[in-house]
Amino acid sequence: MSDAVHNLGVHDKLGRGLRDLRISVTDRCNFRCRYCMPKEVFGPEHRFLPRSELLSFEEMERLVRAFAGLGVRKVRITGGEPLLRRHLENLIEKIARVPGIEDISLTTNGSVLTREKARSLRAAGLRRINISLDALDEPTFQAINDVAFPVSRVLEAIDHATAADLAPVKINAVIKRGVNEHAILELAEHFRGTPHVVRYIEFMDVGSSNGWRMDDVIPAREIIARIHAVHPLEPVHPAYHGEVAKRWRYRDGAGEIGVITSVTESFCRSCCRARVSAKGDLFTCLFAQRGYSLREAIRSGAGIEALQQAIVQVWARRTDRYSEIRTEATAARDKVEMSYIGG
Ligand code: GTP
Ligand code: 5AD
Ligand code: SF4
Ligand code: SF4
Repeated sequence: MSDAVHNLGVHDKLGRGLRDLRISVTDRCNFRCRYCMPKEVFGPEHRFLPRSELLSFEEMERLVRAFAGLGVRKVRITGGEPLLRRHLENLIEKIARVPGIEDISLTTNGSVLTREKARSLRAAGLRRINISLDALDEPTFQAINDVAFPVSRVLEAIDHATAADLAPVKINAVIKRGVNEHAILELAEHFRGTPHVVRYIEFMDVGSSNGWRMDDVIPAREIIARIHAVHPLEPVHPAYHGEVAKRWRYRDGAGEIGVITSVTESFCRSCCRARVSAKGDLFTCLFAQRGYSLREAIRSGAGIEALQQAIVQVWARRTDRYSEIRTEATAARDKVEMSYIGG
């Protein structure tokens, strides 16, 4: 087996390269966010992937090598809740050693991020962390996570990340009309004047179980207007090509916020992101209806080049632009769940 890195590069049917990889390391989560894993669907009978089906860290590392040779530079670890996977720092260490990988980040709900964990993740090579937090008041946050998890502990996790030199932290807040609208200004005011960046996410129709309706979406322009009315904002140029969030800064210099506008202003044209599920299925869109298993190839001992060929075949045929074509009808399609594909 040859482990050489081949800089093949690959473009899809719409001319988009392959630059970012999101790896889901588990489909499990200790939260039951209403918009992601509602209890009625993810109840005690729900069957999560058995351990034997999950890719090992060694298998994930091989995949990352293959992707790196095709042009991937950024890897994001997601879940479910990625920190439920034991010894995650071992995976990060392995990925950090892969030639070509420049950035390793993690998206987490923060619930099990202790001070020591934040330190060991940083030492292993983690560069950045995004922590989800949808409200600052206990009743709203606990109603959303639906497992009575307190806000105060997520705020502590943000402090632990800061102490471990992972600041600025991106704070992800999914905004749903009538549920946590009041959190828009509260989050802005709480994190103004800190290095952290609150990113407001339009509620999306991922999966098939979150009961999405267009009426529940608060458009990003309305979110910005509400904050701007109190704390004037101005736009900031994107940090890099294909950045998902649109950036804004406070005119008085108190920092930055972002909005993720998948519903009202799609960003498919610059989407250079592949996703791999915890069992090794490759997805070319967050809203995909099916994936392509890479696990057989990995488990049968395929070399890096054979893995790359499999990936190239899928990517070269890619035409995804779901956010551009979304309607109430597409929203009702049977799509893969967010907790499985990793956001
Ligand atoms: P950064 O690299 O820090 O900007 O991270 P990110 O925003 O790409 O990742 P994160 O996991 O924090 O995701 C924030 C939100 O953006 C989540 O709701 C994701 O589902 C959403 N998101 C990320 N990538 C895509 C994408 O390619 N398409 C769509 N529609 N949404 C995405
Ligand atoms: N719409 C928008 N964002 C979502 N997330 C989970 N489900 C949805 C949804 N339906 C967010 C999480 C996390 C990120 C990975 O995706 O809150 O911050
Ligand atoms: Fe878990 Fe994140 Fe989904 Fe909430 S949004 S249920 S924290 S994976
Ligand atoms: Fe990429 Fe699909 Fe998101 Fe469009 S909807 S930006 S193609 S993941």
